[in-house]
Amino acid sequence: MDRVAERILGIETSCDETSAAVLNLRDGRAGLASLVILSQDVHRIFGGVVPELASRAHIRAIVPVVDRALDEAGTTLGDLDGVAVTAGPGLVGALLVGLTYGKTLAWRLGIPLIGVHHLEGHLFAPTLEDPGLAPPFIALLVSGGHTMLLDVPEWGDYRLLGETRDDAAGEAFDKVGVMLGFGYPAGPAIERAAVSGDPARFAFPRPMLGAESDDRFAFSFSGLKTAVLHAVRGSTDLERDRADLARGFQEAVLDVLSAKTAAAAQELGRETVVLGGGVACNRALRERVTDRLSGRARVVVASPRLNTDNAAMIAAAGAWRLARGERSDWSLEPSDRLPFPGLQRGSPTPATR
Ligand code: KG4
Ligand code: ZN
Repeated sequence: MDRVAERILGIETSCDETSAAVLNLRDGRAGLASLVILSQDVHRIFGGVVPELASRAHIRAIVPVVDRALDEAGTTLGDLDGVAVTAGPGLVGALLVGLTYGKTLAWRLGIPLIGVHHLEGHLFAPTLEDPGLAPPFIALLVSGGHTMLLDVPEWGDYRLLGETRDDAAGEAFDKVGVMLGFGYPAGPAIERAAVSGDPARFAFPRPMLGAESDDRFAFSFSGLKTAVLHAVRGSTDLERDRADLARGFQEAVLDVLSAKTAAAAQELGRETVVLGGGVACNRALRERVTDRLSGRARVVVASPRLNTDNAAMIAAAGAWRLARGERSDWSLEPSDRLPFPGLQRGSPTPATR
């Protein structure tokens, strides 16, 4: 019989952050004992993540990053009760490094291993700062790879209301960032530039806003990206127009994300809205969603360190699954198409109007 998990090591290597965290569980409450995140700078010069470089950087970093997380938590390998590691989706070569290391540790220590879905990790991130956070809630997951609107009646029961048809919200930020001459990742730079930009100068399209029936919670950002590209090409002075373009683009994204999120909360009668994933670091997004909800639901967002990729959120999601008695076996492999556990697709319940 396994011991009830009390001290969980989390490992995340799905993209360009090598991260490890130690989570202490007491009386069903999770306390973050340490979190180490090493961001790989090497990709900046390429304007995007280069998969093979990411894998190699994870190989160099994984041992010192895990050791440092254990040190900062004042613990040792022998004190661990479980290992939670991202199994997908993500770059397979990158995932393979963390997964193989985590699997080997768990096997060597004779403790349970749990493979975690990266997006379920993002969903659990706010619980690290708000232990009382519990479903039901609406969740907007907005990262570099995904844009999903979910209804969450219970942990482990995720109902997909809508997702992007093409680019993810973060991907749109990053691609527009390249057009505007910002480095990768561009989300934070666009947010900063947008502050001084004129929101009315560039009226970009609000894709899928006003879509009806089954499309009412769906997203699309590729046409918006093209609209920004045309505006950039039409600019005679990009230096002068940069902040206005950044603001115009951000306004369009925030309008669509906030309107659909607020509509979902209203339609399903949820009083809590969780924003997760890297784009949820955007303070203007949080404000726009809060405005749209106008007091009908509270908005919960983790701090930026826990919203961008990190191992603490993986440990939190893994701890919940371990506590339910779930285990991964030693045949666990990474997958770039790992199914989101508990996700129900299909059309959302018909709108009641
Ligand atoms: O969740 P995350 O760290 O990695 C993935 O799982 O993809 O999200 C990274 C994404 C990047 O596209 C980045 O540009 C975006 O989050 N991002 C932001 C902000 N901070 C990070 N987007 C908009 N505003 C921000 N402040
Ligand atoms: Zn992520």
